[in-house]
Amino acid sequence: MRQQIIKFTVNGRQYELTIEPHMTLVEVLRDQLGLTGTKFSCGVGECGACTVLMDGKPTLSCCILAMSARDKNILTIEGLAERNLLHPIQKAFIDCGAIQCGFCTPGMILSTKALLDSNPNPTREEVKRGLAGNLCRCTGYVKIIDAVLAAAETIREGGKSYGQSE
Ligand code: FES
Ligand code: FES
Repeated sequence: MRQQIIKFTVNGRQYELTIEPHMTLVEVLRDQLGLTGTKFSCGVGECGACTVLMDGKPTLSCCILAMSARDKNILTIEGLAERNLLHPIQKAFIDCGAIQCGFCTPGMILSTKALLDSNPNPTREEVKRGLAGNLCRCTGYVKIIDAVLAAAETIREGGKSYGQSE
C-alpha cells in the first residue's frame, strides 16, 4: 500500500509525517517521533499502557491507526510537564509512592488528567471507574488512587505545577 501523509499536533507541536497506512498511532509516536514515554504492552486494548489523550479524550494508541489522528491534538506524557516543572498529577504520583516499575504510569497519568479535567472532585469510586482501563501489576492500586485524589485536591486549590526540587 502507498505511503500516506499525516498532519497532526503532538504536545503542542505540529507535524507532517509520511507513514505506512497500516501503522498504529503508538508506532508513529514511538518509532517516528521518538516519544517512548507512551508504552506498548498487550497491543490489543487490554492494559491501557499506551493511553494518550486525543482531543482531550483517553485513547488507546495501540488500537487506532495513526491516520485516525489526522488533524487531531495528541497529548503524550512528554507534553504534560511545563519545561522542568512537573504537573501536579506527576508530583502526586511521586509523593504518594504510586510508581514502582513505572510501566503503567504514563497511561495512568493521562487517564487521570482526562478524569480530573471532566470531574475535578471525584470520589474514590469514581477514580476507580475512571482508571478501570489501566492495569498495574505492581502497586495494588491503593497508592495510585491516593495520588489521584491528592492531585485533584492540589488542582482544586489552584496548584498548577511544581519545581522538581520542591
Ligand atoms: S498496549 Fe494498548 S491497551 Fe495494552
Ligand atoms: S508500577 Fe509497575 S505496572 Fe504499574
